[in-house]
This record gives sequence, C-alpha cells and structure tokens, in this order.
Amino acid sequence: QNPDPLILALPKVELHLHIEGLLSPALKWKFATRNKITLTHPSTNRVFANLAEYEDSHDPMKSHSKISGSGEKLDNSEETLSFFEAYYGGFEVLKTKQDYYDLGMYYFHRAAEMNVRYCELFFDPQGHTKTGVTWEIMMEGFREAQEEAERELNVRSSWILCFLRDSPPEEAMQHYTAALPYRDMIVGIGLDSYEVDRPPSLFAEVFARARQDGFRITAHCDVGHSYPLEHVQQVVSESKLGMDRVDHGLNAAASPEMIASIKARGGEFGMTICPWSYIRHQPLEEVFKGIRVLFDAGVRMAIGSDDPAFMEDTWVLENLLAVKRFCGFSDGEMVKLARDAVMICWAEAGVKEGIL
Ligand code: HPA
Ligand code: ZN
Repeated sequence: QNPDPLILALPKVELHLHIEGLLSPALKWKFATRNKITLTHPSTNRVFANLAEYEDSHDPMKSHSKISGSGEKLDNSEETLSFFEAYYGGFEVLKTKQDYYDLGMYYFHRAAEMNVRYCELFFDPQGHTKTGVTWEIMMEGFREAQEEAERELNVRSSWILCFLRDSPPEEAMQHYTAALPYRDMIVGIGLDSYEVDRPPSLFAEVFARARQDGFRITAHCDVGHSYPLEHVQQVVSESKLGMDRVDHGLNAAASPEMIASIKARGGEFGMTICPWSYIRHQPLEEVFKGIRVLFDAGVRMAIGSDDPAFMEDTWVLENLLAVKRFCGFSDGEMVKLARDAVMICWAEAGVKEGIL
C-alpha cells in the first residue's frame, strides 16, 4: 500500500525521535529473551507470561498516558502501564553493544525506506546508566549502526543527548561530562521526561556549558498541552536560555507574541512538531489548526514521530500524511514543510545542500 507517492519520495530529515521510543513490546520481548531477562510489571511485579499479555499491558486504548499530567484515564486498570512506566521499563532489556546496534539499525532501515536522509536522534543516557550499562556499550553500539547506515543506506545521523528533567541538574552535569569522549557523535543537548514543575531554566548551568563547548541546545516544552507557555518563552528568549530549537511547544500557536519571538530568532531556529503525539491528549482539530497557524506565520518546523512504538506504530511518514490531510496542505506546501525541516537541522552545510 503506497499512501502518497509525493510524500514518500520527499527527501526527509527527522529531528524528533527518541531511539528508546522504538522499543515496542515485541522488540522488548525479543531483547529480553535474548538476554534472559524476565519482564515484570513495574508496579505490581507480576511476571508477564507471554508476549500477548505484555502487549496488552501497553495498550494505549486502555489508558491515557500520564504524560499530560492531567491524570486522565479511560480505564483504571492497575495492569495497564502509563507512558513513562512502559517507556523507561523498556531500557532494562538493553544490555549489550549488539542490542544498541540492533536498535539503531531497526530505525535506520525504516528511515531509508521513508527516504529519511539525515536524522538527529534523541537518547536518554541516564536511563541506561541506571540499569548498569556502560557508556562504551551504549555509544559503540550506536556508533556501529550509525556508520553502517551512512555507508550502506545513505542515511546520515547525529545524536542529541537528553537530560531527564525530573532528575537533579547535578546528575545531568555528571552525564554531560561523561558524554564528552563521544562528542564526535553528538550534535546537541536536549531535555525530556516528565515536565510538571520542571522548567528548562533549572538546567541553565549545564546548558550554558554545553553551548560554550559548541553543542546546539534544545528542550521539550508543553508535552501533552498542559504546561506553561513560560517554558517555551525560556527556550526562545535570548535574554533567558536562548536555545537553538524548541521541541513541541505547540501552545505557542495561540500566542501572537510568542510566534513573533520565534520568528525573530530567524536563522536555523525552529520547532519540532509531532502531531501523533499530541492527539493522544488534545482534540485533533486543535492540533492541526495550531500547526497551520505556525506554518502560515512562517515559523519553520520539522515534523517528527517522537515515540513510534507508543503511538500506534506511526513514523515520520504517517505524521507527514496526517499533516497533509488534516491541515489541508497542498503538495507545494508539503514541499516547503520538508525543506524547512532541512533548513533548521544541525547538519553541516554540505549535507543540507545535498538534501535540499
Ligand atoms: N515526552 C517526554 N519525554 C519523553 C517522551 C515524550 O513523549 N518520549 C521520550 N521522552
Ligand atoms: Zn519527544
């Protein structure tokens, strides 16, 4: 089934994908079996007897993820995992360099099929060191996949190291320092995880240091449409953190002042927008109206997929198709959208020109 030849053929960049967000129940089951790990429910400690049971616990229709902070749930089943339980629970199955390589290649093969030419992939090292994995295992596995993808699949990539905003800033600083031996693989530093009462400014010191060292910086804002516009403001405003990008931040669409501030940043400044991620929490019409408003105002954005395994297996292609359909974009507008994403990516000029 070929959904839309033009969208499929567009040369793409993907700037918002969490590599750990690819860990579907089936993939986790595969790694767990290989590593002789018993999968248990994080709250009840019940052992999952088989893949079907495990898949059932991830059923997004059984529970709205707690990511929005609203606590909204369709069902009170104790057995159904929240988004973060399921997401961080996935980390424990990754043990060896081979696992990290396989996870990387799982993405890069799919990326090649969708004509993704360059990507910036988020990873959450704090979640991996917590399970006892070393930096070397993680980064050398990723590196091998990355090099093979460039060589064999014509997919280039770089990494964005994300700090967990619900962990202390000191821990972020320790992980930043530990990452420096791998800086040739890492283009940027980001901020993700649970956003309640965790504004980006809490991490000002480590971000300032990363900027000085030559990294680009970005932060997730308004994940789930229930967080203060102040978070976006801190990221955008040069008198505050003045970062290089905002991840999500769709609440900016309702504020003409914020749109003006974003536009004033010019250059490579842009937003990453993941529609399928928002429609779990927010009415569909509101999501696509917001995207339309930003696009019409001339804000540059890159459409991304966030966590495909947690969003009904939707990838950048499906997210672009949703934008085309629900924003009512013409083919010409879709081409502009794809080119804007290339313009805001952090690849070297030569790589960008090769994609445009
Ligand atoms: N939201 C916040 N943090 C995350 C997400 C997300 O969807 N995925 C991975 N880390
Ligand atoms: Zn994200």
